[in-house]
Amino acid sequence: GITRHYKFDIKLQNVTRLCHTKSIVTVNGQFPGPRIVAREGDHLLIKVVNHVQNNISIHWHGIRQLQTGWADGPAYVTQCPIQTSQSYVYNFTIVGQRGTLFWHAHISWLRATVYGPLIILPKRGVPYPFAKPYEEVPIIFGEWWNVNPEAVISQALQTGGGPNVSDAYTINGLPGPLYNCSAKDTFKLKVKPGKTYLLRLINAALNDELFFSIANHSLTVVEADAVYVKPFETNTLLIAPGQTTNVVLKTKPHNPNATFLMTARPYVTGLGTFDNSTVAGILEYESPFHSAASIRNLPLFKPSLPSLNDTSFATNFTNKLRSLASAQFPANVPQKVDGHFFFTIGLGTSPCQQNHTCQGPNGTMFAASINNVSFVQSTTALLQAHFFGQSNGVYTPDFPITPIFPFNYTNNPPNNTMVSNGTKLVVLPFNTSVELIMQDTSILGAESHPLHLHGFNFFVVGQGFGNYDPNKDPSKFNLVDPIERNTVGVPSGGWVAIRFQADNPGVWFMHCHLEIHTSWGLKMAWVVLDGKLPNQKLLPPPADLPKC
Ligand code: C2O
Repeated sequence: GITRHYKFDIKLQNVTRLCHTKSIVTVNGQFPGPRIVAREGDHLLIKVVNHVQNNISIHWHGIRQLQTGWADGPAYVTQCPIQTSQSYVYNFTIVGQRGTLFWHAHISWLRATVYGPLIILPKRGVPYPFAKPYEEVPIIFGEWWNVNPEAVISQALQTGGGPNVSDAYTINGLPGPLYNCSAKDTFKLKVKPGKTYLLRLINAALNDELFFSIANHSLTVVEADAVYVKPFETNTLLIAPGQTTNVVLKTKPHNPNATFLMTARPYVTGLGTFDNSTVAGILEYESPFHSAASIRNLPLFKPSLPSLNDTSFATNFTNKLRSLASAQFPANVPQKVDGHFFFTIGLGTSPCQQNHTCQGPNGTMFAASINNVSFVQSTTALLQAHFFGQSNGVYTPDFPITPIFPFNYTNNPPNNTMVSNGTKLVVLPFNTSVELIMQDTSILGAESHPLHLHGFNFFVVGQGFGNYDPNKDPSKFNLVDPIERNTVGVPSGGWVAIRFQADNPGVWFMHCHLEIHTSWGLKMAWVVLDGKLPNQKLLPPPADLPKC
């Protein structure tokens, strides 16, 4: 591989959407941010210089960061944030990965405006396991607030209630023609007839899983979370925040003399706070016979999306995702398990503190938790505390590995919504093979939770609804070709089982990629100890690692 240098200047930029102009935090003044393109095996040096008042840190979502946890990016987990006028060089190599990922700010809600595609091409000369596309197009979904998203989250945390929902979803930063005052801000995909296009879909929205469809065109799914999958065709996709999906779009053999909307809107299983609006872009066939004006007069087709709560579509779609599991791209599913973990995932409440207005249920504050522990962010970086043997007073290694309260979803939901606070971690010996069952508790506001694990891909070996049954369910696990990914939806009122090999020393964050749930504490971290060999040890921190 080669070394690629990028410079990210974090600065303010005035941006207008929906007729509201505001000053937002950006990378290099761009919204969405710049595209990073590299090849498998390349070494990246990305210098981030902070010119704004906010502290910042950047996460390379889905990059494994083998031995280089210092470059992972979550603030107060692997690094202290980069303060005003400071800089930090993210230094890492892309090992054994190729596909679509993304990067985003990983502090407070700054990822609302600070995000962009991270595209890893195969090594030079190595083809895709599908026909070479005529063109490749990143399509990144986001959310736009007319107000400052930092104010939205700080108000929600102060009142203990839910946050204000966004004003629009966006495709490549553009809300599109279904919103007021937005027709000129529409993403256009211009295509030629009879060609194939690789669409690199990325859900960078903060708080919603999305359905996506293009009118009158089917899509072939070929990759998820930068791992090739067995191709299958679909009219509609489901994509959770933190997930990426590559699809092949085959255009009509002849110019159809029509234009086609592509739309996205949320999948919501419960009564959560969500924006129920629809973002649209336009698929336009280029033609020497049509001017921009005559294209506007062509018939326009609209896709139909599943209803907001169409769980059967979601389940069917998810079940179709299978690893390619070929000789060239094997699925190395751990066949035996050293460490069994069972986490309940859910929303709960914590007692209202003095001086809070407490707009949560029954005068409490919203909280979210794993095994009833709502994670408290530390004031220094956990990885530093671990590396220098200074965990005392920073974190405790006693994260509960099974639920604190006995759990029964189907007939007697326990009164276990109250959470305790703590900065608790699980410590794993190097190369532990982990099986983790995540059971949604769905006691307050049924919502599925896209759980994201840093530092690893995992295999989704099983999923179901109701209570996980340790006597029956494991016999149905798929240990042959399960989907391998970095973010999985824990279904509302159900469970998922994942397996991964803890072969990457460091401290690795795991959290719900719905930003509001992370803010409420739905997060924890794993410490993976060094192995014996030199290539099984966390490297020392770089000299420019930011200080708290
Ligand atoms: Cu994309 Cu910790 O997140």
